[in-house]
Amino acid sequence: MTKEKEAWGSRVGLVLAMAGNAVGLGNFLRFPAQAVQNGGGAFIIPYLVCFVLMGLPLLYVEWAMGRHGGKSGEHSTPHIFGAMGGTGWRYFGALGLFISIGICSYYTYIEAWTMSWAWHSAAGHFLGMTQEQVSAFFTNYIALGTSEPILMWVACVALNTWILSRGLQGGVELAAKIGMPLLLLFGVILAVRGVTMTAGYNGAAYDGVVGLNFLWTPSFHSIWDPVVWRNAAGQIFFTLSLGMGSIHCYASYVKGKDDIALNAMSAGWMNEFVEVVLGSAIIIPISIGYLGVDKVVEMTKGGSGFGIGFMTLPYLFTQWGAFFSAAAGIMWFGLLFFAGITSSLAMGTPVMAFAEDKFGWDRRWGAVAFGVSVLLLGIPSVLSQEAFNEFDYWAGTIALVVLSLGEVILFAWLFGMEKGWKEITDGADMTVPRAFRFVIKYVTPIFLLVVFVGSLPEVWTTITKKITFHVALARGLMLGLLAALALLVRLADKRKVEP
Ligand code: ALA
Repeated sequence: MTKEKEAWGSRVGLVLAMAGNAVGLGNFLRFPAQAVQNGGGAFIIPYLVCFVLMGLPLLYVEWAMGRHGGKSGEHSTPHIFGAMGGTGWRYFGALGLFISIGICSYYTYIEAWTMSWAWHSAAGHFLGMTQEQVSAFFTNYIALGTSEPILMWVACVALNTWILSRGLQGGVELAAKIGMPLLLLFGVILAVRGVTMTAGYNGAAYDGVVGLNFLWTPSFHSIWDPVVWRNAAGQIFFTLSLGMGSIHCYASYVKGKDDIALNAMSAGWMNEFVEVVLGSAIIIPISIGYLGVDKVVEMTKGGSGFGIGFMTLPYLFTQWGAFFSAAAGIMWFGLLFFAGITSSLAMGTPVMAFAEDKFGWDRRWGAVAFGVSVLLLGIPSVLSQEAFNEFDYWAGTIALVVLSLGEVILFAWLFGMEKGWKEITDGADMTVPRAFRFVIKYVTPIFLLVVFVGSLPEVWTTITKKITFHVALARGLMLGLLAALALLVRLADKRKVEP
């Protein structure tokens, strides 16, 4: 029986799916919190430098690697890397599958919260509550032993699995075509509301622009602070979904001679628009408008944005009256949900592709395998915040840097910049500035090496400090997953599935 070949239905669908991959919870929760924590305007300069020297070059590299792998029927990082560098690189590429499952294990849990919070907002459950009561509502919701987040999480993973099982065009692409326009619509409405908020109206203490000024007044005071640079680099990785294996996988379904350069830039810049414009024009002006800069800095400690996003905004929305509070809650948590699901679907696709390409699994079973792995790996994060942070640290931060460093060396130095540049520019609908050839070969690897070496002392402190049972469980599961994936790559080498 010939297998049905997966392909993108249209260029718009591909760009929306790629943009959906990048635009995620990171744009609306992590970015504003990171920006506030790292000094507002002081964060923006390192952030933009990292975008140009690391973000843009790696977008070209990952798209090019993906399309190159697709030409020989490879759609997941182990074998995309293997096709360029040989056997050893297949094992290294298994890291991409580890990252996808590892991040999704906690990411889908947050996605589930957004579903619950959209419902609670629509039902008016936050009306009449004080700020403390809304916070307590959230703390009780995620407390151990409550069934709602777990049921929602299982439903959310089941929804992801179902969409994935419908394939590229009928599942992922369709979800992006529905989700991305709605996300943009909700985002623009809330951003306009945030920016035009005036002091004294509906209880606001300051104009919305006070928050924007805090974020957008460039300041050079922390330009030499390595922590700010590390956080800016981490945000660029996370927001653009770099070093995760999902861009490679989506790009591997692009036809051999079709453009990737303009597509990569369209999706990447769409992500930056959503992050820098919409991501900073909702949480920050609204929360600073009501609470002031100092309080918001205090509330975003840790840099995740959960406190502001789930505990503070729903309360502030209630200041706008019953109807607008419900509408704002549905739009805010709705946009978070669409942002989240279009990213988690992208992380599921490489895992399915691996099962399909190498073991001949039907895509439905590939999707189920992904869903089950996510649920298993997610258990520690549901049980404990510490385990959640552990997954975010290893799978969502450190592994991204390691994968990116490895792939840029493979692409620019082993595969070679001559062939690499040809891969990037073949069929290009734009002129790729030649400076990127130099940047990809020298600047990006050095930059990544510095980020990697710079994070080693912290890695050492993390692995040598005393750990709790939940952290040990999280680490045990992550190591088990890595070992299982390496074994699967080995098994895949021993069998040959007809393409
Ligand atoms: N790029 C995705 C996000 O920003 C993972 O959330």
